[in-house]
Amino acid sequence: MMPLLLCMLCHVTATWAFARLSDAAQLRSAFSVARTSSMEGGPKMVVTFDKTYVNIGGDFEPKTGLFRCRIPGAYYFSFTVGKFPRRDLSVMLMKNRNEVQAIVYDENGGEERKVQSQSAMLQLDFGDTVWLRLHGDPRYAIYSNTGHYTTFNGYLIYPDVYGFQEPARKEQVPVAFGQTPEQVDDKEVKEERRDIEEDDDQRSAFSVGRTQSIVGVDKGYPEHKPIIFDTEFVNIGYDFNISSGVFTCRVPGAYYFSFNAGKLPHKTLSVKLMKNHLEVQAMIYDDSDTEKALQSQSLMLSLRKGDTVWLYSHQRDGFGAYSNHAKYITFTGFLVYPELPHNLPQQKHDKVL
Ligand SMILES: *[C@@H]1O[C@H](CO)[C@@H](O)[C@H](O)[C@H]1NC(C)=O
Repeated sequence: MMPLLLCMLCHVTATWAFARLSDAAQLRSAFSVARTSSMEGGPKMVVTFDKTYVNIGGDFEPKTGLFRCRIPGAYYFSFTVGKFPRRDLSVMLMKNRNEVQAIVYDENGGEERKVQSQSAMLQLDFGDTVWLRLHGDPRYAIYSNTGHYTTFNGYLIYPDVYGFQEPARKEQVPVAFGQTPEQVDDKEVKEERRDIEEDDDQRSAFSVGRTQSIVGVDKGYPEHKPIIFDTEFVNIGYDFNISSGVFTCRVPGAYYFSFNAGKLPHKTLSVKLMKNHLEVQAMIYDDSDTEKALQSQSLMLSLRKGDTVWLYSHQRDGFGAYSNHAKYITFTGFLVYPELPHNLPQQKHDKVL
């Protein structure tokens, strides 16, 4: 009896895996577009594009500047805009009619041309639109030319289809919306989760924002506290703890991380991406003039179960990072490839490195 049951389970798992593969070909959505001319702030605030690099699924309409969600799920968006000389820069990433995230480069209308980038993940439903909005005042402008300074990219990371499969498998333990994993983590759930983890639930993604600046204060002793966040765009798998600011790896594999922070006038920006207690990548902008500016960084990390990843801002006088309701400080991470099971040679190799 037992072998037969196991075999049936195997069959079910194999069928699921196959269904996922065939779905994968249809569940694609990605765009990357550029604008080859500058644009001045005016009544028509949607940034439009005239050069298409990629438009898989056709969900982005360059002429209207709108991405329209066809496949519900979690999407990663990034954009880069150029600052027009002697104009101000204010561009917002919009979901439907709500601002998600903004780039403001500076408000002093300096001579120079510079580019600024931002990124975030968003959870979208069918028909949701995502677009870039330029400030409507003609004092604002974005700069671009055939060098394609202004670009907009987005792609589907996790379609909701996986999420719909899961409840069917754990019907007896519904997870209430907004409930933390801790609240539902009795033994039964944990066991069930372990099963899912092993074959099906290989998803992990977070994207968070902070609406307040960080200002370092001398305390006479070193403090190594993570940057904490107050806005959650996406938290698939609940692997990111928004109140502690720490991502803890549940599914081993290769992860993509990106983070953004604004520079405070007269302060040095020093934000570091930390893995466990080691510094991985630093963002240092040591230009103590009066400008506000935005800095972005990204990288991939290979993580094991239990590894932590977090952001650290230098907690001393003279250091700081700028944010406000437009959430200049953001932190995003998602699993790109889970580690292949039973891949011992690979693991040995990693250990040597
Ligand atoms: C998240 O972090 C806070 C603060 O460190 C802690 O009190 C809480 O238990 C953590 N939550 C989970 C689900 O681990």
